[in-house]
Amino acid sequence: MPEIDTKIEPVPEKKFYLETFGCQMNVHDSEKVIGTLINEGYAQVDTVEAADLVLYNTCSIRDKAEQKVFNRLSDYKKYQKQGKKFGVLGCVAQQEGEKIFERAPYVSLVAGSASYRNLPQMLVQLEAGNNRVTGLDDRQTDQTFDTEFTARTNKHRGYITIIEGCDKFCAYCVVPYTRGKERSRTSQSVLAEAKRMADSGYTDIQLLGQNVNSFKDPSGELTFAGLLLAVAQVPGIRRVRFTTSHPRDFTRDIVEAIESEPRLCDHVHLPVQSGSSRLLKAMLREYTREQYLERISWMKAAKRHISISTDIIVGFPGETIEDFEQTITLLEEVQFDAVFAFKYSARPNTSAIRMPDSIPEEEKSKRLAVLLERQRQIQSTNYQRHLGEVAQVMIEGRNEARGQMLGRHSQNKTVNFTTSALIQPAVGSYVDVRITKALPNSLVGEMVI
Ligand code: SAH
Ligand code: SF4
Ligand code: F3S
Repeated sequence: MPEIDTKIEPVPEKKFYLETFGCQMNVHDSEKVIGTLINEGYAQVDTVEAADLVLYNTCSIRDKAEQKVFNRLSDYKKYQKQGKKFGVLGCVAQQEGEKIFERAPYVSLVAGSASYRNLPQMLVQLEAGNNRVTGLDDRQTDQTFDTEFTARTNKHRGYITIIEGCDKFCAYCVVPYTRGKERSRTSQSVLAEAKRMADSGYTDIQLLGQNVNSFKDPSGELTFAGLLLAVAQVPGIRRVRFTTSHPRDFTRDIVEAIESEPRLCDHVHLPVQSGSSRLLKAMLREYTREQYLERISWMKAAKRHISISTDIIVGFPGETIEDFEQTITLLEEVQFDAVFAFKYSARPNTSAIRMPDSIPEEEKSKRLAVLLERQRQIQSTNYQRHLGEVAQVMIEGRNEARGQMLGRHSQNKTVNFTTSALIQPAVGSYVDVRITKALPNSLVGEMVI
């Protein structure tokens, strides 16, 4: 009689590869997506070759970012024959929707960030052979994507989303169309996540949102400044950061919170976009140069020195040389520690797409170069302020080439430093470093024992 084989064949693990483009919100969304997929029985792999499911979490903030996604998708067309499935997530997915299936027919999943909580159901549909699975948002959802399965890559420093979407509709920006309407998480759920993270060893938390200052606690318990203080007081947390702040909603109690609580990092990223009130009006930013500078003056008057960084767009439709010069004088007045500057890129759906993109590409590049050079000079002087300071630095790794440790200042600046040969502090620990040299983008020092 033949023997009955009672061995259970192991179910082959489904493997996915995920590549992320774009901002910190996308990086953190990917951590949540990875956690969700692992919980659904998938394993993450490092190469497209090894994967059954290939996912791209995409960005469409400027045309170049969007093109990168389509270039990547066409590079990988060849894998289609091997039976792999492809999915497009994130802002290009939401923006282009089902058009992606026409442009890249081997894609079988298109999902924007406001639908990620439905990913498990979408995966079931994919596995059932549906090759047109969509998760697209109509700016109606009130729900946020809160999950306990977030797969954070860094063991010490992590993100928490506090608010999703955006209702500001700045004239140039795709985000309100790609990320849905503004919706906040409850303060209890944010604090519970901060506590879970602290319990598993995290000490540095960054609160995320397109507009963190628009946070409105659905339970009505805490203001944004109140939430900052509450997160900072979670036992085990040593540093709390937040990004991005919108000048219109940036209130004085945020500065007071930073003044009173040393665990709130002394750094604020406050995108100005332009130094010209006329242009700010055209951009629909809802503040003037003077109102922006008033917020800066609150920070400059604070008892702790607060480092300030910003974003700028050059070449917005109708930007005159006088407008541009006002941006330069604003840089000189504020003395930012970092500036992220971009050439204006006309984007679908936005109101500015109807304005003629009047500044030639060459002129945009010229203005960008002038601005970056001016800012480099400002930063070279600014960073000198740290010379001789003993700063607390969180260790992030080792720069083998230079034989130095790599760390982060509370003001989010990179610090390269030497230690004695006998002491090799662990990644994630905090040490005191005496700053001995200041470069335009980083600091150099030696550990104080
Ligand atoms: N929520 C943030 C910004 C998010 S987008 C805020 O309100 O400031 C990040 C940056 O990209 C913006 O600050 C802006 O400087 C830049 N950006 C957005 N749309 C752009 C466009 N169409 N062209 C060029 N830069 C753009
Ligand atoms: Fe875009 Fe403006 Fe919203 Fe920032 S506030 S995400 S720039 S629309
Ligand atoms: Fe890009 Fe979307 Fe972030 S457009 S910048 S990934 S919100």
